[in-house]
Amino acid sequence: MAIGGPATPVHRADDIMIARTPERKLSLTGTASTSAVGPTPENNHKRGDDVVPSTVSAYPWPIGSRMPSRGAKRIGPFTIGDKIGEGSCATVRKAYRTGYKTAAYACKVLPRVGERDNASVLNPLREISLHRLCSSHPNVVGIEAVAGDDTNHYMFQHLANSGDLFDLLDKLRTNPRETDVSKFFKGILEGLAHCHAVGVAHRDIKIENVLLEKEGEGGGFGLRPMLCDFGFATTDEWSSDACGTLDYAAPEVLKAKVRPYQPQKSDVWSAGVVLYVILVGSLPFEVANNSKREIRRRILNGAFDIPRHVSKEATELLQMMLNPNPDLRSTAEECLRAAFFSGGG
Ligand SMILES: Nc1ncnc2c1ncn2[C@@H]1O[C@H](COP(=O)(O)OP(=O)(O)O)[C@@H](O)[C@H]1O
Ligand SMILES: [Mg+2]
Repeated sequence: MAIGGPATPVHRADDIMIARTPERKLSLTGTASTSAVGPTPENNHKRGDDVVPSTVSAYPWPIGSRMPSRGAKRIGPFTIGDKIGEGSCATVRKAYRTGYKTAAYACKVLPRVGERDNASVLNPLREISLHRLCSSHPNVVGIEAVAGDDTNHYMFQHLANSGDLFDLLDKLRTNPRETDVSKFFKGILEGLAHCHAVGVAHRDIKIENVLLEKEGEGGGFGLRPMLCDFGFATTDEWSSDACGTLDYAAPEVLKAKVRPYQPQKSDVWSAGVVLYVILVGSLPFEVANNSKREIRRRILNGAFDIPRHVSKEATELLQMMLNPNPDLRSTAEECLRAAFFSGGG
């Protein structure tokens, strides 16, 4: 592993490119890139014995709530407002309790496409049910209600009040203090360990899927991280789905067509990529020309540069998480016992 690699562009995984200068000057440079290993016809594999909860618990109001002919769309007791986010699969909008002006919810609008196909990695019912399974943890964004009509499901979530981690890192102009990173990243790992403890692997951990909640002026940037977007989540212990986002994908996910992988292990790798991006301000396996083939090659090689400013404890944790051999990679629980979290970072 080389020390002190050159600064190269980082991209917002599915949509936006970020470029980094040597002083960690992140700036948006345009739109780009699709899901790395997303559900294209080519890699949307059939799942073997998926364990997919068959139903979402009953809607609190009847399916078929209709949009009023005039004015804002209403779903049950909610009025849908402006768009606040968009990923590769869904749109997220502000939602209000009808009659109240304060935006209190985020509404993820999930097209019903694929809901009858248990084999689809994009089944919206699976997203809703697996997110629900995980949502009783401070580091997973909460679900307040779920509704649906003929075309969509509407997942009303707690509205994260400080955007997502991509936005935070985009604003940073210097590398953050490791004491802050340690406190903040611990929250991400605790959220992930919770998902794993209830039997769910996320499969799309990346900075866009970490929401932020302001919490006083304490360390850890004064922000609590919350995992969101369970669109690729699974309860399978072994999987052959090549899904997720290329820059964050573990080597074994890139070889999913050849050999099944353990999704919880690959989540830890993706979280390691997140840690690297927070500490360094660039992606560990990026290449100057953003060639997907070259990025794959780098990931499969498993070699990445660690700049000199990264501490011994942080380096050790990165190596625990970004171990190309999933059998030797630490679990999320084991990572939480790393020296990086005991004041050494
Ligand atoms: N609960 C929420 N509160 C605030 N912003 C959110 C919330 N959920 C999602 N977002 C924003 O919307 C974006 C897309 O949401 P996400 O659930 O990741 O959808 P997709 O599956 O399409 O990627 C997120 O990256 C984030 O910026
Ligand atoms: Mg997302």
